[in-house]
Amino acid sequence: MTTTRHDELAIDGGSPVRTTFLPYAHQQISDDDVAAVVAALRSDWLTTGPRVPVFEAGLVRATGARHAIAFSSGTAALHGAAVVAGLGPGDEAVTTPMTFAATANAVLYAGAEVRFADVDPGTLIIEPELVAAAMTPRTRAILPVDYAGHPADYAALRRIADAAPGRRVTIIADASHSLGATRDGRSVGTLADMTVLSLHPAKILTTGEGGAVLTDDDDLAAHLRRFRNHGIATELAARTDWTYAMVELGYNYRLTDIGAALGSSQLERLGSFLERRRALAVRYLDRLGGHPYLDVPTVEPGVDPAWHFCFAQLRLDRLRVDRGGVYKALRAEGIGVNVHYIPVHQHPYYRGRYPGLAFPVADAAYERLLTLPLHAGMTTSDVDDVVAALDKVTRAYRVD
Ligand SMILES: Cc1ncc(COP(=O)(O)O)c(C=O)c1O
Repeated sequence: MTTTRHDELAIDGGSPVRTTFLPYAHQQISDDDVAAVVAALRSDWLTTGPRVPVFEAGLVRATGARHAIAFSSGTAALHGAAVVAGLGPGDEAVTTPMTFAATANAVLYAGAEVRFADVDPGTLIIEPELVAAAMTPRTRAILPVDYAGHPADYAALRRIADAAPGRRVTIIADASHSLGATRDGRSVGTLADMTVLSLHPAKILTTGEGGAVLTDDDDLAAHLRRFRNHGIATELAARTDWTYAMVELGYNYRLTDIGAALGSSQLERLGSFLERRRALAVRYLDRLGGHPYLDVPTVEPGVDPAWHFCFAQLRLDRLRVDRGGVYKALRAEGIGVNVHYIPVHQHPYYRGRYPGLAFPVADAAYERLLTLPLHAGMTTSDVDDVVAALDKVTRAYRVD
């Protein structure tokens, strides 16, 4: 076969599919967002003031949860959820290895220990039966992650949690990827005891840095509000004199009014962000379904994911390079592929803390996983560039 310059990989000196680099994620900032932030900067409040409850009310409207409690990051929100769930020394919580370390770290911050349960090979989401197998008499919480924006099977997890004899097992959804997704017609935010959002710029909606916990439980909500504010029962804006009571050990995990202003402005466009992400994902699945050198994500019946990103699992048996080789070649083609995630138990800290762990599905998926660019600023022609680059690189590296 003769190779034309067009077929030659950019990494080998050929022309790239794209001359402008396509990042895997990027925030969408409009003039209205800028104006909202400027108005906050010109107001009397920079830290938590009147714009935070307005943003929280917007999250309540968008998700159908009864309460939204804003935090300074998704990680801080996870820490809060772990503590108010009652996790502490002597307790355990079950989570997935296929996540950012922050999910498991929150359990450790609360003084409890982590147990991992493996994931489904098509969705890379925690398998309820494996959660049941990982539970012990010490288990007090389950932390599923809505990987790539696809809600976990909360009904099955609820049955497992409720079957635990003699104690309440709290379900904390890590919905950092899934704001706006639904399962069986129910919105993320209403599927678990507590639902944690990350509002980092790579996510569906951003406050710069930020996060939130959604819950229907009045007591958990009140506890979360104290926890994010040093354990103080009254917030600054609600005080009438100098007095306040610190009633438990909390943290400064407050969202700023600057971030809340951005979040409220972004919430106006949540519907259009989701619509665009879903259209791009449909295009990926249409164009890549049945691909000879990679597998696309599975979507379970009744699920409408929010598509924080799309992912592909390479058919390494048909390629003569590993995932690292494909990753480098795609980046040279101008495609900002990434990898989510290095399984948590493979990080040196977790290897030291919990030696010898192996999870066959997550470990095998990690070896062949690539995150494909997907954000609300992309067009279908950007998706076509990613598909063209995947075709070009996998064809160049095929074994047959
Ligand atoms: C699944 C998951 N959990 C937790 C986090 C932590 O969120 P944050 O970066 O807002 O602290 C992230 C974000 O990176 C995430 O993707």
